[in-house]
Amino acid sequence: MSTLVIVGAQWGDEAKGKLVDVLGGQSQMVVRYAGGNNAGHTVIAEGKEYKFHLIPAGILHPGTIAVLGSGMVVCPKGLLEELDRTLEQKSELGTLLISSAAHIVFPYHRMLDALEEEARGQNKIGTTSRGIGPAYQDKVARIGIRAGELVDEARFPIRLKEVLDVKNRLLEMFGKEPIAFEPLLAEYQAYAARLKPFVKDIEPIVQEAVYSGKKVLFEGAQGTFLDLDSGTYPYVTSSHPVAGGACLGTGVGPRDIHSVLGVCKSYTTRVGSGPFPTELTDEVGDHIRTIGKEFGTTTGRGRRIGWLDLVALKHSCRLNSLSGLVVTRLDILSGFKKIQVCVGYELDGARIEYLPGDVDTLSRVKPIYREFDGWEGDLRSARAESDLPQETLDYLKFMAEYTGVPVAIVSVGPDRAETIVLQENLIWG
Ligand code: IMP
Repeated sequence: MSTLVIVGAQWGDEAKGKLVDVLGGQSQMVVRYAGGNNAGHTVIAEGKEYKFHLIPAGILHPGTIAVLGSGMVVCPKGLLEELDRTLEQKSELGTLLISSAAHIVFPYHRMLDALEEEARGQNKIGTTSRGIGPAYQDKVARIGIRAGELVDEARFPIRLKEVLDVKNRLLEMFGKEPIAFEPLLAEYQAYAARLKPFVKDIEPIVQEAVYSGKKVLFEGAQGTFLDLDSGTYPYVTSSHPVAGGACLGTGVGPRDIHSVLGVCKSYTTRVGSGPFPTELTDEVGDHIRTIGKEFGTTTGRGRRIGWLDLVALKHSCRLNSLSGLVVTRLDILSGFKKIQVCVGYELDGARIEYLPGDVDTLSRVKPIYREFDGWEGDLRSARAESDLPQETLDYLKFMAEYTGVPVAIVSVGPDRAETIVLQENLIWG
């Protein structure tokens, strides 16, 4: 057996998609375990740029089975558009499967997402407006409509009527027009007709792949500190991006996970509201945003930028029991004379080296930095460890020492080829 979880070790957008694409070629199955089309993965392969929001990036490898797991919330319209767009770019893709237990996103979820954000006023979360939170609210309230029900011709109209009545009452409370049943039913029946062949009970399929010795990759979305329980609540997403989410969202047990790679940038970014101790609101942050094209794949919003926060990263390493780190975007830091790394926080005059769980406390900490020499030159041509500048190697060494987790892979550019494996043995456990 050989299973690997790829998890975002910071606040999302760590370039997991690229890694899933690179390692997807070695896997027989890639299973995404959480989130919906709030995620955005850009993959550059063979000179083409692919954008994924729902489909695991592993679909680009024809022999691979790409699974949308039970922990996901799926917008059928978005999924079909993504599938058609990808097919236009590449005729031969892997096989797509959708868990019958994945929840379906409806227009009322998107409307309520916007209305709830508006109602939060100053305290808005800065969601992606994709209806993700409201769809997971329905799941927890046990009224959500799952993919298996969507494709059940007899059950779907009954379930939709039931739920839409409740949602229309809510929309009316917000002063909005109710959604008409018949057109919504017809729209979703058309999606169901196309999606039906892909919808399966995926847990036994994934378990069989794992127990028959196939290489199975579990793809996370968002990042550790956007996790509903372990993140900076309430400025989080409504699912479980942490590695444990792979068990919850796919039907694989904890002892069947062999390796966990945590993807982190060589600096830090975050989208939306919430505390961010190492945030750079000056020209350094602006410079990194511009050079790194740090704008959301899903929303186009400029990402907030900060120095690498090792206090947070060490916590993430433990939350996810990481086997190895994958450090991305080292090329973007090129050209800085000095680079800062957060190695502690000052809280009310005392030094702490842990991440406070409460957002009000976290927003009061001040980062304590250690300064490193920067590096020069275009790192994108580096193909081996020996091609990397000594300063970059020192930086990576310190990351590994501080967190206690070795660096397995580094990424020096967006292309598949711009990847350097430092410790192959950490990848599949
Ligand atoms: P939601 O997931 O749309 O409900 O948004 C909740 C929070 O998670 C917001 O701060 C979003 O900006 C953030 N978020 C959601 N998905 C992503 C992602 O893929 N990358 C980075 N941030 C995300």
